[in-house]
Amino acid sequence: MGKRHGRHIHLGLWLTFLDAADWRNPDSRAEELNSLAPYVEVAEIGERAKLDALIRGDGLGLPLPSPDQAYAGSLEILTLLAALAARTEKIGLIGTASTTFTEPYNLARTLATLDHISNGRVGWNIVTSVAGEEQFGYDQIPGHEERYERADEFIEVVSKLWASWESDAVLVDRENGVFFDPKKINRIDHHGKHFHVAGPLNIARPPQGRPVFVQAGDSDRGRNFAAEHAELVFTAQRDLEKAQAFYRDVKERVKRQGRDESRVSILPGLVVTIGATEAEARELHDQFLARIDYERTRTSLEALLGGIDLSDIDLDEQVPEERLPEAATLTRQPGRAQIFVDLAKEKGATLRQLLQALGTAHGHGRVFGTPRQVADHIERWAEAGAADGFAISPAQGLAGARLFADEVVPILQDRGVFRREYTGSTLRDHFGLWPVS
Ligand SMILES: Cc1cc2nc3c(=O)[nH]c(=O)nc-3n(C[C@H](O)[C@H](O)[C@H](O)COP(=O)(O)O)c2cc1C
Repeated sequence: MGKRHGRHIHLGLWLTFLDAADWRNPDSRAEELNSLAPYVEVAEIGERAKLDALIRGDGLGLPLPSPDQAYAGSLEILTLLAALAARTEKIGLIGTASTTFTEPYNLARTLATLDHISNGRVGWNIVTSVAGEEQFGYDQIPGHEERYERADEFIEVVSKLWASWESDAVLVDRENGVFFDPKKINRIDHHGKHFHVAGPLNIARPPQGRPVFVQAGDSDRGRNFAAEHAELVFTAQRDLEKAQAFYRDVKERVKRQGRDESRVSILPGLVVTIGATEAEARELHDQFLARIDYERTRTSLEALLGGIDLSDIDLDEQVPEERLPEAATLTRQPGRAQIFVDLAKEKGATLRQLLQALGTAHGHGRVFGTPRQVADHIERWAEAGAADGFAISPAQGLAGARLFADEVVPILQDRGVFRREYTGSTLRDHFGLWPVS
């Protein structure tokens, strides 16, 4: 197969080394959860394979503390990316930050700083958050629409702040003692419903103009937000047909906004298990499933589906339809909940299958197989108009990341669908995005 529409597939690598279910393995390196070293290893693996970016989510709070949950707390992502910026040269660095529980001025400053010290490699995964209200003085989480409304204004404010320094404001004219031209640094005087910000920002315009805008939200409102702002879209898709429909729908919405849809990349998450043979991969995948803590995962599923009770349902029974919520009416994660409602209703999934989908991949797609089979899967979805690439999450921790980089990526390179070398140095370059003027 040749290049897809003359363009390459994009690959992000999930910035983690420890699968929650894996930590009790003797070689898991669980003690290093909050150390820099394993994350540097992931970053180096990704950069050696010429991947587009490292990607990581982030949350605010510990929703279900339980003594066996290794992943309960971990490093704050933007701080971690600052450290990785110093240890890498080309790979993009995409971190998650909430528009609901941060303020535009602080976040604009942090992301501008990251973009400066990484020489233009930062992407911001813009989320409206599914939890965190208890940490920030709210009685309850602001409603879905309200969160997106604040997010729209948030984007407006940070964009104005990043543009508050014109690109030629910094002169460093030693002879005349002129460091910068004050006429090229402007107040923004933003007064809106949610924010009052005078500006200008207290740091020069970032090298990329602003970080690459990444969006992860699957609901109707989330898709409109993506259509308006996003340059990359993360999504959880398990089923090829649904992924194609999502892809078409988001690109169509982008077009309706008057934007060039070919400049918006859609990357579903993909949890990957690689074996030397198909049988070995299946065995590893089965082990992966066997490690699920069904009791705890059921509690998470109940919460995701709006607090329903599934405690009386046998693992091999289906969830009765009348128990399932109308996902679109949920406040926290209607988009993600929809995946599980569809699985139950349309595919007749048993409770066990729902818990496996949540516990192993949080609703994302999964693939297991030989390196060739994994490469085939990636290429098939891209060819079928279901994805511009994937956010890869190796099921086998660091070893899995290495296998992906060393065994799968070369196959995609040989087929001409993935880069052999970086052709640029910013995240915008990697994704073929327009510069921000
Ligand atoms: C693929 C994907 C990844 C997400 N990652 C995060 C995350 O890391 N942190 C977070 O607070 N929310 C995350 N979210 C949720 C977003 O906060 C989103 O705003 C929320 O799901 C509500 O919007 P929605 O109903 O449009 O999906 C993610 C959502 C999706 C679909």
